[in-house]
Amino acid sequence: MEGLSSLRAIASAPGKVILFGEHAVVYGHPAIAAVTDQRTVVEVDRCGDRFTVNGFRIHERYHSYLLKAVEELWHEQDAVRIQTEGGVPSASGTGSSAALTVATVAALHRLQGAGTDPADLARVAQDAFLVERKTQGGGSPVDTSISTAGGAVAVAGKPPGVGQPLWDVHWEDQSWHVERVPLPELDVVVGNSGVKGRTDAQVAKVRNAATKNVLVRDTLAEMGQVARDAVPLLAADDRVGLGALMDKAHACMHTIGVNHPAVQHLVDAVREAPGTYGAKITGAGGGGSMIALTDKPHRAATAIEDAGGTPYVVRLGGPGVQWDATMAP
Ligand code: MEV
Repeated sequence: MEGLSSLRAIASAPGKVILFGEHAVVYGHPAIAAVTDQRTVVEVDRCGDRFTVNGFRIHERYHSYLLKAVEELWHEQDAVRIQTEGGVPSASGTGSSAALTVATVAALHRLQGAGTDPADLARVAQDAFLVERKTQGGGSPVDTSISTAGGAVAVAGKPPGVGQPLWDVHWEDQSWHVERVPLPELDVVVGNSGVKGRTDAQVAKVRNAATKNVLVRDTLAEMGQVARDAVPLLAADDRVGLGALMDKAHACMHTIGVNHPAVQHLVDAVREAPGTYGAKITGAGGGGSMIALTDKPHRAATAIEDAGGTPYVVRLGGPGVQWDATMAP
């Protein structure tokens, strides 16, 4: 569907948690991710001669994703003014940069006349990955695709064959296939350790380890199998089974070298809390956040806080990227 070529576009995109398979997915193994109920909103206006972000001239040091997005995707004469409102906490492993990138790409597309059909969503997912990849180096499209798609998805280098195909994402000679998978009503508790883990550095560290060490390569494959095993458990809302798989995934992430003492401390604390089924690092690791699956989110949140972390109770699921309704043709 062709939209209006307009003066202003607004889009929003959600944060995410990776439930299973982070790092493994970089090598084509499956990962499962779900969106959270936190969202980032981006408004883009045509405004004449200066590219700005929240009133400041756009600058690579502060706005690396946004600068890359306009460099790659804005093909018009006039400049744009970008306003962002971040509901996804940054550097917490819950997808703040992907949410920002997806919402910006969606708004830039819309401002240049794109529509909101499934094919337009696939293009947002592809372009958001291009922007993320060119900004942060090696990685997979799991964060940008889940933020675009909403709900929960499986992403893998070969069609995972566990859900309904959504789109493929390409980078040079690599492709990933994205499928929609079932998601029961789940609250998870995210615990931010406060230690900033950089995704690019962790991805590079695992790549280096995988090159040298067969145990790391085997563990990445095992993490992919855990992700695959999780899909029927998600469909059945089997929390005991999912919690056990989370514990297994956490042990694998420790083995590949992305655990951090501050995160382990939160995982240990939350596992002691009543109602916890399982807990693991989420995202790139090396600091950042963990997640716990629990029937008693407030008990888990208290355990995380008492252990020195910052807890967020998030509801999984909900829409992916959305355009402001006033933009609909
Ligand atoms: C980061 O959220 C997930 C990683 O698997 C990197 C990636 O897939 O881009 C660690």
